[in-house]
Amino acid sequence: MTKHVSPVPQDQTFRAEVLSGLKADRKFLSSKWLYDDVGSHLFEAITELDAYYPTRTEFTILKENARQYARLPGARGAMVELGSGSSRKTDLLLGTFQDLSVYMPVDISANHLKEAGERVRRAYPSLAVIPVTADFTQPLGNLPLLPELPVLVFFPGSTIGNFERSEAAALLQRIRDAMPGASMIVGVDRPKSEDILVTAYDDPAGITAAFNQNLLQRINRELGASIDLQSFTHKAIWNAAESRVEMHLVSLKDQDVEIGGETISFRQDETIHTENSHKYDEKAFAEIADEGGWRILGQDTDKDGLFSVYTLQAV
Ligand code: SAH
Ligand code: AVI
Repeated sequence: MTKHVSPVPQDQTFRAEVLSGLKADRKFLSSKWLYDDVGSHLFEAITELDAYYPTRTEFTILKENARQYARLPGARGAMVELGSGSSRKTDLLLGTFQDLSVYMPVDISANHLKEAGERVRRAYPSLAVIPVTADFTQPLGNLPLLPELPVLVFFPGSTIGNFERSEAAALLQRIRDAMPGASMIVGVDRPKSEDILVTAYDDPAGITAAFNQNLLQRINRELGASIDLQSFTHKAIWNAAESRVEMHLVSLKDQDVEIGGETISFRQDETIHTENSHKYDEKAFAEIADEGGWRILGQDTDKDGLFSVYTLQAV
């Protein structure tokens, strides 16, 4: 059974956030809304693309270092995975973490989480698999954890890069407060050439464009809007000053759109900023970890230095 603990986003939250984001001077929507059923499947398709290097690179690092990670104290207790998605990377660790007793995947995308949880339960029958549908930007204090079990937080995918620096530090702090004494394995994407980065977020097959555009379709589906999808296009840009790739949806014309009973106006070329994907070097991530109350135990990378997996200890 899947548990619902901290507030699961309800339609009203989605409506309120969409309207407030689209009424802002610079229109924006939180990237967490990209992940409905369709968005989660499109994200899985992105992970298979040649252009999207993070997934296969992090996979390699996890595979090479799984035995080392098995020595973290929490690997003998409960593993809480934040933004677990399909739990494919988890397989690498679960095969090695022979003494783990609880696996708690946490994700906002309820159906995708349920399917992944069932798959892991079938593959590891002796493990207690407890999927939790939750928004990890909300309070984490009521995850159903037993105080006597050491906790290992698994936060792969560079999902931490989807937060601004101060938000990332605040999130790490809230994780530490909710799970005192925990250790963590966290994936962090690194800065690299603009060409590689922009291609990764604007792939030739157009899957990332579809992933971004699905947010408009989701607004149409869930808020009864009638946004003309042809009148918005996907754009990925490298913002060097902030060391991040940004995804935007660009309005191709002046237009008024009815959403949730309100009218939102777009100018031609005006954008909706839908995602930030920060690329943190060692110095930047060390500052975030420190501010969030975590000590860096180690860092593992691939041979090309594309991606880092850090191990951390809550202080
Ligand atoms: N861990 C997987 C998936 C990364 S995609 C991997 O490394 O490939 C990001 C995942 O985080 C998605 O499954 C998405 O549904 C989830 N997610 C994004 N924002 C979230 C939030 N605020 N709360 C909970 N889950 C979130
Ligand atoms: C989940 N997250 C870290 C991905 C990223 O790379 O920022 C989501 C994504 N967006 C576009 N492609 C993949």
